[in-house]
Order: sequence, then C-alpha cells, then structure tokens
Amino acid sequence: MKPDYRNWMPKGMIMGLGTAAGVLAAGSAAAVRSRLPLDRTSRHLAGAVLGLGAVGCLAGAAWSLYARAMFSYEGGRQLSRQIIEGVASYIELPEGGVGLDVGCGSGALTIACAKRNPQGRMVGIDRWGVEYASYSRKLCERNARAEGVSNITFQQGDARHLDFPDETFDAVTSNYVYHNITGADKQTLLRESLRVLKRGGVFAIHDLMEPSRYGDMDEFLRKLREDGFQEAQLLPTAYGSFMTPWEGKTLFLSGSALLVGRK
Ligand SMILES: C[S@@+](CC[C@H](N)C(=O)[O-])C[C@H]1O[C@@H](n2cnc3c(N)ncnc32)[C@H](O)[C@@H]1O
Repeated sequence: MKPDYRNWMPKGMIMGLGTAAGVLAAGSAAAVRSRLPLDRTSRHLAGAVLGLGAVGCLAGAAWSLYARAMFSYEGGRQLSRQIIEGVASYIELPEGGVGLDVGCGSGALTIACAKRNPQGRMVGIDRWGVEYASYSRKLCERNARAEGVSNITFQQGDARHLDFPDETFDAVTSNYVYHNITGADKQTLLRESLRVLKRGGVFAIHDLMEPSRYGDMDEFLRKLREDGFQEAQLLPTAYGSFMTPWEGKTLFLSGSALLVGRK
C-alpha cells in the first residue's frame, strides 16, 4: 500500500475553473448571436464581458494545473514533500515526548515528524471541513499505516481553540494552515498553538506570513522573548531554502516563512 497525501491544489478546483471557462465562452458566443431585442453594441459588450471571464477562468485553470504538478508527491518537483521535510527537520522530541501538528490535512507533516522521532509520538489535529474535502482522519490513518508509522494519532480539532491544557506538548508544528482561517487574528492563532507547548519545547510553524496577513512579526518575536521564550526567529523560506524565488513568485508563496524556536 502506498501513502496518498493528495494535493494542496484540489482537482475539484481545476475542474470548476475549466467548467466555468466553458460555460462563459458558450455564453459569450450566444450573447453575440442572440436574437434578444438588444442593439448590436449591447450584444457585443455582453459577449466581450463573458469572453473575458472565460479567458480569466481558463488562465486560472492553467495556473492551477501548474501548481498541482509542482506540489504533486508523484511529480518531478515534489515541492510539497520538500516543504514538509524542511519543516519536520526542526521537530525534535525527547524520549517519550509528544508533538502536535495543527491542521494536519492528509497527515504528511505529522507522519514525517513521527518518522524522525521514533523515541516519541505525534498527534495530528484538523478541522477536516468542506474546503479540503479530500482530507480526512481516515486518510491520515491510512497514510500512517502505509508508511509503517505507529507512534501517531489523529483527532478532530480547531486551531482557534485547541482542546488541550496549557503546556501539554513537547513540540508544536504546522504547515500552511493559519492563512486559511479567515476572520481570525493570525498572531492570536500562533499564541494559541504556543500555549499548548511545554517550556523548553521546540516549535516550527510554517505559513504565508507577510505583514498584510500576520501584522508586525518583529514585534511578535520581541514579545515572545519578553515572555521568556529561549529562542524565536522568523526564517523566510521562499528565497532558496524550501523553494526558489521564481517558484515562490509563480505559486504565490513568496510570503512563506518559518517561525522556529524554543519556549
Ligand atoms: C493547505 S492544507 C495543509 C495541510 C497540511 N498541514 C499539509 O502541510 O499538508 C490546510 C489545512 O488546514 C486545515 N484547517 C483549516 N482551518 C482549520 C482550523 N480552524 N482548525 C484546524 N485545521 C484547519 C484544513 O482542513 C487543511 O487540512
């Protein structure tokens, strides 16, 4: 049995964009040829607007196909795997220690951390909502079995309010989750994940952390140090470490950064 981590670019989105392009193109042609009581200019204007929409959807579908190929675990680039392994390399568990992966999706990062830390175990939590419908707890468990990893459990949970007491875990990690959580203050989400980390535990949280999403991260780092965190730094990852600047730009991942340190 092979693991199936799915793809960060869902097939459904590409199909949706392709279908929308087809429908809009047909609408554009119909508008131009329409026998509705509209003057020629109005018919051509409607046709042009619908045609532009079709071109936009087609361009979106083409870009989504490119992103899907880059992220694929089967493809030549395997960017998702490289990012997951890069984040996991920061997670070290003590003997018998327990680590948490927030928003584990298909279990890729949780499993990578568990593999690197046979002396401990990992817990993966996710909301498993409609926006990533192909991810599920069952899929995570199947992937763990396929990878021969048993020091791992998965459970439903919400990154906004983690169902664990303060200082439960020896390590906390996450990859590309918080930017999905609309309406929530991103620094508050980070604080919630760090709340459940034990003093002395390590963290590695990777996301699109540009100021427009996360606010002033220098100030955030300063506050962590003020609160007694032993180490805390923000490492940009779209300029060579996890991906090339070109990949970062074309995949809209230029704001990727890794918050790492020790509480
Ligand atoms: C881009 S996927 C990344 C999945 C995984 N971390 C990885 O690297 O493959 C984002 C994940 O965040 C999860 N997610 C979104 N909002 C969440 C929330 N409030 N609590 C927990 N998980 C959430 C989604 O269900 C999805 O699995």
